Amino acid sequence: MGRYTVAITGASGSAYGMRLVERLLASGHEVALIMTPAGGEVAAYELEFDLPTEDPARALLRYLELSADAPLRVACCGDLFDPLASGSHRTDGMIVAPASMGFCASVANGLASNLAERAADVALKERYPLVLVPRETPLSLVHLRNLTALAEVGAIIAPAMPAFYHHPETLDDQVNFVVGKVLDLLGIEHGLFPRWGE
Ligand SMILES: Cc1cc2nc3c(=O)[nH]c(=O)nc-3n(C[C@H](O)[C@H](O)[C@H](O)COP(=O)(O)O)c2cc1C
Repeated sequence: MGRYTVAITGASGSAYGMRLVERLLASGHEVALIMTPAGGEVAAYELEFDLPTEDPARALLRYLELSADAPLRVACCGDLFDPLASGSHRTDGMIVAPASMGFCASVANGLASNLAERAADVALKERYPLVLVPRETPLSLVHLRNLTALAEVGAIIAPAMPAFYHHPETLDDQVNFVVGKVLDLLGIEHGLFPRWGE
């Protein structure tokens, strides 16, 4: 089984990151989650889920309706001593869902000013998969240039762009489509949406 880092930043769409964590854990993968402070605020606003500072992993597993012994670790975004800050730490990939434009700007410019940005910086330098799920509209030229710079250094840009050709009926279907596309990129089996032609 794999070991993945998931970051939830302050763009709209915390549900994408939450569903991703849930699917990875439910498929038996290990997950280290970093939530930026803005990511925490937006999640509290959009999902009415407040990540507590006391035993956050336990609270999140309860929210996701997963077993309390699922292999989830919640890292503190301000802790630059966390293993995720080091290139010597092994992981199979990092996904940032949703990725704010601020986060993308920081990583495109190598700022590494918190653990989420540093972990993405490490993914780029160590050349393991970094999947970014940006969410913003419209995109300014600054946004587009930062996303281009990230794609040029190997990040996979998988925007939160739900489709309609699979006839979604619920918001859940829309979230599952985006998360399923991310899992496809990592080669992880899922049944989150029907495949065209199957
Ligand atoms: C309710 C809400 C929704 C937001 N949605 C977006 C968004 O979709 N995309 C984006 O780039 N920023 C969005 N922002 C702004 C970011 O949260 C802000 O730029 C923040 O500084 C990002 O910090 P982070 O990248 O460290 O998480 C939103 C903010 C709020 C309060």
